[in-house]
Amino acid sequence: MAKQLATEMAPPFNLVAHYMIAGAFFYIVTSFVLPSYAGELGGYFVSSTIASLSHLYLLGFVMMIIFGGMYQLVPVILEIPLFSKDFAYIQFYLYVVGLSTMAYAFAHEKMLFLLPYGSLLVYIAMLIFTINIFLTYRNIEVWSISAKYIFASNIFLFFAVTFGLIAALNLYYGFLDIDVLKIVSAHMAGVLIGYVMMTIMGVSLILVPMFSLSHGFSEVPINRGFYFITVGLALYIFGALTDIFWMEVIGVVGIMISLALFAYQMWIIFTTRIRKQNDSWAKNMIASFAFFILSLVIFLLSYLFKWETLSMFSGYLFFFGFLATIIIGHIYKILPFLVWYQRYSPLVGKQKVPMLNDMIVEKVADWQFWITLGGTVVSAFGILFTSKLLFVVGTVTMALSAFLVLYNIYYTLAYRE
Ligand code: HEM
Repeated sequence: MAKQLATEMAPPFNLVAHYMIAGAFFYIVTSFVLPSYAGELGGYFVSSTIASLSHLYLLGFVMMIIFGGMYQLVPVILEIPLFSKDFAYIQFYLYVVGLSTMAYAFAHEKMLFLLPYGSLLVYIAMLIFTINIFLTYRNIEVWSISAKYIFASNIFLFFAVTFGLIAALNLYYGFLDIDVLKIVSAHMAGVLIGYVMMTIMGVSLILVPMFSLSHGFSEVPINRGFYFITVGLALYIFGALTDIFWMEVIGVVGIMISLALFAYQMWIIFTTRIRKQNDSWAKNMIASFAFFILSLVIFLLSYLFKWETLSMFSGYLFFFGFLATIIIGHIYKILPFLVWYQRYSPLVGKQKVPMLNDMIVEKVADWQFWITLGGTVVSAFGILFTSKLLFVVGTVTMALSAFLVLYNIYYTLAYRE
């Protein structure tokens, strides 16, 4: 595993730790504000209030952990060092200030004048990230399928955040004559499918076989999926912006096929695994893919029947069922490894070093998994049945279990033999 998750070319642990710790912080913040969104049940999926929550969560937690993970993994996947570590630190500070400002401005109507500033800071931070990645790609020699996914995902990220910036500036200055929802749809598809999903798809092909010890499996589904997702998403974005409905629909079909191929690829890897032990990583993986498939099916129904509550329900299952679970499961594997690599790998052969499993408290991770799962299911039913009570009970349970995640993160970072 050491060979696959780290190389001498990987950035300093300090850099990745910045992103991981900030991600954990925003996870706690989101968990605590989530119950206060009960008043939005039965409302519209696209609104400034929901945008405050989704940006706090997606930019603060999901993207933050992905950025940290990318800085660690890109040199491993491409076998070349990152173009600039300084860029990555500058990006971090601009990003934290920008996203906090953006989320605050979305949440408070009177503070909307801050939105252009927050958005611009985040936009610059994202540009620094994509430029850093593209410049790293200059020296690439082998285009593996993971390398292709990550490259394409950064192109989509660039366009998607540009649409986001235009929508944000328009929200305050109101200069556009066209229906802004079209730009927002292109923005959402670009960031969620083009960046978040494509990155997860590319990286899963490295991480999941490594953690489950699978070898010699077919990679045909994920290879085919690449063409379906890139062409499908490009058609969807173009169709949404130009109002060509059939193009949009073909795009959605292409994206759905690619996501189904991804789920099938993960199934192939999981069923050929040698490590059968169901530790907290494996449980989180199984739950996250169950949420993933469910959210796709419900999204299709909501798209076909234009049913707002179902859109909200599928979005919630995707954000808090799939994304949170897959990320937390991986934190339990990756963080202990990074701390071990930095602190103990130089001592191998000289003194006794800990096992990776010793560096998290498995029992706490197990409790966290079940409590979070219960809270997510109950709060999701709160959305489906427009029940404030179920939503609040579920989300408060999730907030309490977030401390168990924090406990294990602290335990790993502070671990000493
Ligand atoms: C420069 C960065 C970004 C800017 C300026 C921006 C701006 C915006 C704006 C103005 C909206 C429409 C809100 C409304 O009409 O009420 C929006 C919606 C949305 N954005 Fe972003 N965004 C950015 C990055 C991202 C990223 C990176 C993600 C996901 C990873 C994301 C996910 C979403 C989602 C899910 C919505 C729909 C929210 C809702 O339901 O109202 N955005 N964004």
